[in-house]
Amino acid sequence: MTHLATATHPARVHQVLCLAGSLRRDSWNRHLLHAAAALAPATLQLHVYENLSDVPLFDEDLEQREAAGPAGVQALRAAVAAADGVIIATPEYNHAMPGVLKNALDWLSRERPAGEVLQEKPLGILGASAGSWGTRLAQASLRQVLHTCGTLVMPAPSVFVANAAARFDADGRLTDAATAQSLQRFVLAFGQWIERLAPTAGALDQAMAQ
Ligand SMILES: Cc1cc2nc3c(=O)[nH]c(=O)nc-3n(C[C@H](O)[C@H](O)[C@H](O)COP(=O)(O)O)c2cc1C
Repeated sequence: MTHLATATHPARVHQVLCLAGSLRRDSWNRHLLHAAAALAPATLQLHVYENLSDVPLFDEDLEQREAAGPAGVQALRAAVAAADGVIIATPEYNHAMPGVLKNALDWLSRERPAGEVLQEKPLGILGASAGSWGTRLAQASLRQVLHTCGTLVMPAPSVFVANAAARFDADGRLTDAATAQSLQRFVLAFGQWIERLAPTAGALDQAMAQ
């Protein structure tokens, strides 16, 4: 009998789209995603999305007028749809995720024009904030919204980067060793989360051929 688990195959490289819920030029959350990209294993390629500011405010009238969606939304939807997984790094504004991130998720949650791209998408959540709770409440609000979207959010490990100003240098490089360690643990776990939810087609093809 064919044994799937023992089939040998080259590890597939998973493409991960990374969204920072901040438009700020020197956003700690974007810096955190770049740090995660540098720490990711060779089987995970992280791409930080830089065009969230092109997503207009959600408006059902606008949605009705433009069947294919505004260009900024089309680009974001396509990037999410093409990714094997998504990582979101959220700031915390008034104990919740910022409006810019919620707005993008509202667009992505819509079925038109090409299906709900967040549904069944493996997703990991991070966050960095000025405060001492490190975005705990923002991450909770994000999980609640993603639950509605049917997104497969990794339950653990968590990364709550508190007092962010003390953890990055003036050029936005992560300088805190403990944060780097937990970030590395997070990206390793996220690679396993994607694998668990979407085992490689290559492994199955090879097993079936035996
Ligand atoms: C409107 C507003 C509300 C904020 N509320 C919180 C908060 O509830 N908790 C917190 O830790 N930081 C709060 N902050 C500070 C943010 O953590 C800080 O601005 C952080 O730099 C935002 O993330 P970014 O660097 O990725 O842009 C708030 C900032 C703004 C502008």
